[in-house]
Amino acid sequence: MNPTRAEISFSKLEHNYNGIREYLDKISPGKRIKICGVVKANAYGHGIREISSKLISLGTDFLGVANYDEAIKLRSIIPDANILVFGTLIHSKLKPETYVARLQNNNLIATVASLETARFLDYYSGKSRKKFRVHIKIDTGMRRIGFDAGRALNNIEQVFKFKNLEVGGIYTHFATAEEQDTKFAVYQLHKFIKLLNELKKSGMEFPIVHAANSGAILNLKESLFDMVRPGLLLYGYYPSEKIRRIIDLKPIMNLKSKITYIKRLDADTSISYGRKYFTKKKTFIGSVPVGYGDGIWRSLSNIGKVGINKKYYPIVGAITMDWLMVNLGVKTDVKIGDDVLIVGSENGEYLGADKIAKILKTIPYEVICAVADRVQRVYL
Ligand SMILES: Cc1ncc(COP(=O)(O)O)c(C=O)c1O
Repeated sequence: MNPTRAEISFSKLEHNYNGIREYLDKISPGKRIKICGVVKANAYGHGIREISSKLISLGTDFLGVANYDEAIKLRSIIPDANILVFGTLIHSKLKPETYVARLQNNNLIATVASLETARFLDYYSGKSRKKFRVHIKIDTGMRRIGFDAGRALNNIEQVFKFKNLEVGGIYTHFATAEEQDTKFAVYQLHKFIKLLNELKKSGMEFPIVHAANSGAILNLKESLFDMVRPGLLLYGYYPSEKIRRIIDLKPIMNLKSKITYIKRLDADTSISYGRKYFTKKKTFIGSVPVGYGDGIWRSLSNIGKVGINKKYYPIVGAITMDWLMVNLGVKTDVKIGDDVLIVGSENGEYLGADKIAKILKTIPYEVICAVADRVQRVYL
């Protein structure tokens, strides 16, 4: 069996979830703020089935996904969770009434970010005589989707008039909540609050108001409202380096493989495609069957490290599709079959997605989402 696998720890997921729960309860003692666990993109690469089932067993109130395909897949696993779809409704190949009936049968909660979507869902839900549950999306500055906050009042009034929609919530999304400078996030928050006040004056209230992603949960306690939508925090990472680390987190995924081949090379021998690395001395080189086909960035060639038996070893030469090579030194205790930590943390070795993201000049989200489908997920 291929030794490359992503070990995913349910107890660490529970630790992170409980950390968020306790923080929310401390900030808001009288009121239980709901949690929408964000499980889009295959639960950030961790496996939507297993992660969602665990989150629901921990008491998660909603699950958030990016699109209707993810939502329908999720519904087949979890019959009774509240599933909120963040994305737009793109018309399918099915006839509209068949499509809307399918979404209705799956009991999904749609995001309404335009009057067209509202009209479409209302019209076809009318035919099935079942109200479609929706949350309204407000654009306060992300400029992705949503009714523009400054001009949303009339549009939302229209949405409320649709008889076949049940408006269960309203939300916005922050563009910079994880940054140390909270100026723009506060600006977005104020725009959202101003709109909520105007809506209230006009008699429109919402059972669930939500805004906070991971960054806002840590940085902006005024944005917690009735529900928060953490993604990255659940998987054990802070969304940026400078953010307040007020919730203790543990990365839940360890991407691991094994040393499957060791050789001793003479000095001045090149390694891998393109000959970008030459041994300095007689050196032991270990080969590990993991590469960019598994989601390891090729740009870690010659600069990344792996962990073996509580020590770090440099990746040498170009990372290939299925292999990477590691410099084990002029003498070595490393043996064929030894475990290799590539991403994650174990036995005091730390190779977290945040650390790797820094080398790659990207964000930890991208590092964990990149773990390819062919990597077996093992749940501990
Ligand atoms: C609408 C929405 N809410 C919440 C999240 C979760 O974000 P994070 O992983 O930063 O908590 C996302 C992810 O980007 C999102 O698109």
